[in-house]
Amino acid sequence: MNIQEIVNRSIEENKFIYGVFTTPKNKSDNPYKKITARPINAKNKSIIQFEKFTDKQAFHENYSYEEANEEIINLIIDGYKNINLYTSEADYQIIVSKKGSVKVTEKQPSKKQTTEEHNKKKQYIINENEPCDFLELLGVMNKQGMVYSKKYDKFKQINKFLEIVDDSLKGRELRDDFMIIDFGCGKAYLTFALYYYFYHLRQVKVKIIGLDLKEEVINYCNEISNKLNYDNLKFVYGDIRSFDYENKIDMIVTLHACDTATDASLVKAIKWNADIILSVPCCQHEFYDKIKNTELEPMLKHGLIKERVSSLVTDSLRGLFMETKGYKVQLMEFIAMEHTPKNILIRAVKTGKENKNAEQDYNNFKKFWHLEDLFIENYYYKQ
Ligand SMILES: C[S@@+](CC[C@H](N)C(=O)[O-])C[C@H]1O[C@@H](n2cnc3c(N)ncnc32)[C@H](O)[C@@H]1O
Repeated sequence: MNIQEIVNRSIEENKFIYGVFTTPKNKSDNPYKKITARPINAKNKSIIQFEKFTDKQAFHENYSYEEANEEIINLIIDGYKNINLYTSEADYQIIVSKKGSVKVTEKQPSKKQTTEEHNKKKQYIINENEPCDFLELLGVMNKQGMVYSKKYDKFKQINKFLEIVDDSLKGRELRDDFMIIDFGCGKAYLTFALYYYFYHLRQVKVKIIGLDLKEEVINYCNEISNKLNYDNLKFVYGDIRSFDYENKIDMIVTLHACDTATDASLVKAIKWNADIILSVPCCQHEFYDKIKNTELEPMLKHGLIKERVSSLVTDSLRGLFMETKGYKVQLMEFIAMEHTPKNILIRAVKTGKENKNAEQDYNNFKKFWHLEDLFIENYYYKQ
């Protein structure tokens, strides 16, 4: 396991007990000669508390499990040369050399989690051991709420997605006719999750349509929806490109829709003035045959690298394109890399404000990669 996997696993699976970070890499820039981290319970919430020591004082900072995960990785990569992580599985000593190489030594665990610590499970939006109708029907958990081990990754993915949705809605007033479309919904785990989130956790009577090209999948999803009495969740058979909707659409979701189906979804969302767009692209083939950059040829000559660069360039350009249309765009990790490499989520929130630099950035970026005749542009301007 690499460092990232060790940290992700100990935090996500609630095995983290204690961390100590000493010997700062850059003493002149870093006031803290030592940092410790441990899980605590504050106001009935499980968090990770960091204690940061200067020569004279100690400062406390509280992080959610997710933030702590990122902070610990940053402290290892950028901050300290000597790190000890204690988990219920193993003790890890991590030594970072001057040149940045990392040596990890793994030993038998020397610290035991107390029962109280063990019970400080990561707080999910949908929690384990709490019955949840759609997760039961989709075979993710049993009637009592116990998540089947084979479905644990799905369970985490659903929760991660809902955390992003929850965060995207902060400060927003939600109307009962809030309208969402999920393009390329497939078997619709995340569409059902969205409906559950709004109805059960936010008490908002949203309307959701899931659209997909596969008729049998759509029939199956409508059956499940009927069984659950999710009256305002409908699944429609059809192609994103020919789908039309007359009324206001507040949010467009498109998760792992194949190749340019993502672009078609984004263009529809922009044209419909959707306030929030959440998109996890997948199999971005279009740019693979189009990108060219002589200086970067030593990299791009390798098919594997070219494929990865193409995906990153595609998503960056999609982000820039949405910026040119008055959206604030963030690219964020959807689910940890070890579960799937298709893990970038594009979040775009309508600002309505013109972004003067975006157009120029977009054009310069295209020029740099020699990109022309792009689907997203053709679809936007010629449709
Ligand atoms: C990889 S699945 C993802 C399913 C689901 N969104 C998820 O994340 O679990 C991609 C889905 O997009 C659908 N799809 C691809 N192109 C489409 C298009 N042009 N119109 C509608 N659905 C499309 C496929 O049929 C497939 O079910």
